[in-house]
Amino acid sequence: MQSPLVNTKRIHKLSEAVVNRIAAGEIIQRPSNAIKELIENSLDARATSITITAKDGGLKLLHIQDNGHGIHKDDMPLVCERFATSKITQFDDLASVATYGFRGEALASISHVAHVTITTKTEDSPCAWKANYSDGIMVPGKTGATADPKPTAGNVGTQIMIEDLFFNVPIRKKALKSSTDEYNKILDVVNRYAIHNSAVSFTCKKAGTNSADFRSNPGTTRDAIRQVFGPAVAKELVEISQSNPGLDVELHALVSNANYNMKKMAFLLFINHRLVESTNIKRAVDNMYSTYLPKNAHAFCYVSLEMKPQNVDVNVHPTKKEVMFLNEDLVIEFICDTIREKLAEVDDSRTFTPATITTSSLQLTPITNLAEPPKSSSKPSIATISKKPYEHKLVRTDSRMQTLDSFIRVNPSFQTPHSANQGNAALPLSDATYTSMVSANSMQPENQKSQEIIINTESAVAPTDTALLSSKEGTSVPQKELSTLQTEMPPANPVTPVSSILKEPLKNTREFVDVQLSSILNLRNKLRTDAHSGLTDLFKNHTLVGAVDDQWMLMQYQTKLYIVDVDDITWIALHGFSNFGYIDLKSDGINVQELIQLAVEEQISAEQTGTSEKQLMSPQDIAQQITALLIERRELLDEYFSVALSEEGILHTLPVLLKEYTPNLSKLPLFLLRLGTEVNWDEEQACFETFCQELGILYACEPPANPSDSLKEAVADTNDCNADSLPHQSYCASYNWTLEHVVFKAMKQWYFPSKEMAKRESIVQVVDLPDLYKVFERC
Ligand SMILES: Nc1ncnc2c1ncn2[C@@H]1O[C@H](COP(=O)(O)OP(=O)(O)OP(=O)(O)O)[C@@H](O)[C@H]1O
Ligand SMILES: [Mg+2]
Repeated sequence: MQSPLVNTKRIHKLSEAVVNRIAAGEIIQRPSNAIKELIENSLDARATSITITAKDGGLKLLHIQDNGHGIHKDDMPLVCERFATSKITQFDDLASVATYGFRGEALASISHVAHVTITTKTEDSPCAWKANYSDGIMVPGKTGATADPKPTAGNVGTQIMIEDLFFNVPIRKKALKSSTDEYNKILDVVNRYAIHNSAVSFTCKKAGTNSADFRSNPGTTRDAIRQVFGPAVAKELVEISQSNPGLDVELHALVSNANYNMKKMAFLLFINHRLVESTNIKRAVDNMYSTYLPKNAHAFCYVSLEMKPQNVDVNVHPTKKEVMFLNEDLVIEFICDTIREKLAEVDDSRTFTPATITTSSLQLTPITNLAEPPKSSSKPSIATISKKPYEHKLVRTDSRMQTLDSFIRVNPSFQTPHSANQGNAALPLSDATYTSMVSANSMQPENQKSQEIIINTESAVAPTDTALLSSKEGTSVPQKELSTLQTEMPPANPVTPVSSILKEPLKNTREFVDVQLSSILNLRNKLRTDAHSGLTDLFKNHTLVGAVDDQWMLMQYQTKLYIVDVDDITWIALHGFSNFGYIDLKSDGINVQELIQLAVEEQISAEQTGTSEKQLMSPQDIAQQITALLIERRELLDEYFSVALSEEGILHTLPVLLKEYTPNLSKLPLFLLRLGTEVNWDEEQACFETFCQELGILYACEPPANPSDSLKEAVADTNDCNADSLPHQSYCASYNWTLEHVVFKAMKQWYFPSKEMAKRESIVQVVDLPDLYKVFERC
C-alpha cells in the first residue's frame, strides 16, 4: 500500500468555479453574514426602510426589500460579478471610503453558493427590472428564456431574493443544523443595525407570517435600544458624546449606569458605522464596569467610534467584522476614561463619605454616621471612586468560601424568641398579635435534595406552647379562635410540606407587564429619591458574611463589617407591582370574612383589656363590610397584586414577592383586616402605596419564634447547650438561608434604603479594618 506521506499528485490550477466557491465560503459563512452584506448594500443605497424575510433560518429563502436608489438597468449584468463595485474606483479611494461596501465581492460570493434574483428600479426608470444570477453571471430565469433583465412592476428600490443558500456546499449546510439558531442570528444582526441606524425603519419576519418578529420605527438611538432591549435598559442609559482631537477619534455611546446590569455583557461596537467586534475594547470596558456593578453583573454598551478612514484598516477580515486601527491602546483608554467619568457624574449614589471610625473599642455604633454627602460638595475624583483597596487591606470577600457564623457556636440561649412585637419594632404593625397565636414561619430554604419546599410548623402545634407564647407577650388567645385558625393552617406535625398550605409550590406564570402607571412610576421614583446614597451603595456592593443570630446579619463593605437587621421588604412590593406570581392557597381557598372577624375580635380583646368600652359595630359586621369592600375591588387585587378573591369572598391566592419566599400566613387575618382599615381606596397612588405597605408588613422578615421560652430557660439553667430543640436550630438555619440567598440577593438589585433607615439602629458598623491595624500596631 502506498504511504500517505508520499504525494504523487501533481500541482494544477483550480478551476475558477472552485476558487469562487471557496472564496465565497469565507465571506458568506452563514445566513446572518449574507443578511449583513445585504443590509449594508441597502444602507449604502440610502434606503430608509428595509424589510427582511427569512425561511428556514435563511437557508431556504432570504429576501430583502429596500427603498434605496436602486441599480441602473445597464449595471445589472455586473452586479454579481466578482470585484465589480460602484463604490470605489482605485486603491487610494479605500483611504476615504464612506460606504460599507467597496470590494464588489458580496453579491458575487452569494451567487456562487445560492440562487439570486434581483428586482430593482431607479428613480428615472419607467419600470423595474428583474434578473437571475448564478456563479456571478446573469442566467435565464426559465429554460428557453434569455438571461437579459425582464421589465416588471415595482417601486423605486431593490429587492434581492436568495434561495437555497449552500445548495452546492452540502457540508456547510449540514453544519448549520438549527434554523431557529440561524434565524436568531439574523435577528441579532438586524437589531444591531437598527440601533445604529435609528432613522431607518427595519422589519424582520419569517416567511409565511404576517406579524414581524422585529419592527423599528424611526427615532433616536435610545428609542431603537428600547425597541430591541426593552424599556428597563433604555431608561438607565447614559449618553456620551466626546471627541479626542489628539487621537482624531469621536466617541458616541449609550451605556447603562450603575443601576442596571445584566448577566452577559451586551456590547455593540461600530467603528466608522461598521458593525465590528473587538475583544480588547469589550474586555477593557467590562473590566472598568466591575468597579460599579456587583460581581458577575455586566453592562449594556453601545459604542460608536468615528475615526479618520486612513487610521482604520477594514480589510483584515473576509467578513469585515474585525478592523485594525491606529493607537488601539490609547483609544481604549480614552473610551474607558470617558465612560467612567460620565458614570461618576450621573451616579450620585456612588459618592459617599466613608464613615468615621468609631470602633476602637468594638462598640456598636448606629449607621447614622454614614453621612449622606452634601449635594453641593465637590464630587470625589474618579480615582477615589474606582480605587480598589490595597492588597494589605483586602479581607475575605467571598462568602461562599466560608461564612463567619460557622465559627460561632450557637448557644441555644442566644436564640431569643422573636415575637412579632420584637421583630417588627420599626413597623406600624408592632402589635401583630396573630403571630403569637400561630407562629408558622414559612420562610425556608429550598430542600436541596428533593427540591421540595418545606414549612416548619413546629411552633404552631401544641396549644400549650402557644399559650405560653401568648401569655409571655401579654396577649391572651382564646382557645376557640386558636382552633379555628388552626383548621385553616397546617396540621401539627413538626415538618409539614408546603403543599399542606399551598395547593402547589410557588409559581409565576404571568406574562411580564411593563407598568407605565404614573402613580407607580412616581412611587418607584420616590423610593430612589428618598434613598440614602451611602446605604444604597453599601447594600448594592456588600458581601454577605453570614448570620450572627436569628436577627442580625453580618456583611462586609469595603474594609468594614456591619451588622444589619432587615425586616421591611415593602420595596419588593413596589418593584413587583403587576408582575407577582401566585401562591395558590388550599384548594377550597380561605374564607376572608371569617379571618377578618377573628382579627377584629382579637384586636378588640387586646384594646379593651381593663376597659368596659362598647364597640359600635359587631366584629361580624366589620368583617362583613371589609369583605364586601375587598370583593368589590377583586379585579384590581388580582391584576395588580395577584390576590385572587372569589365573588363569595374566598381567597385563593397571594402574591409571590420573591421566589422561594413565602409570608408568615399566621399574619393573614390581620393583613386582611388592615386592607379594610389602612388602605386608602379613594386615590390611586395612595391606594397602591398603602397596599404595598400592607404587603410589606405581611411579608416582613421575621426570625422564627422559639416554641418554648420555658424550655430555653430550663436549658440555660442546666447549662446544657445542646439540650435545646434541634428542630428550632435547623429552623433558624432555614430562616437565615432564606435571608442570605433570597432577601439579601434581591437587595443588591432592588433595595434603596431610605434616609429614615439610617436613623434607626438597624444597621451598625462593628469593625473597620484600618482601625484594627492601629490596635495591632499598638500591641
Ligand atoms: N440594495 C442595493 N441598492 C442599490 N445598489 C446595490 C444594492 N445592492 C448592491 N448594489 C450594487 O451592487 C454592487 C455590488 O454589490 P456588492 O455588495 O457585491 O459589492 P459592494 O457593496 O460594492 O462591495 P462589498 O463586497 O464590499 O460589499 C454595489 O457596488 C452596488 O452598486
Ligand atoms: Mg456590498
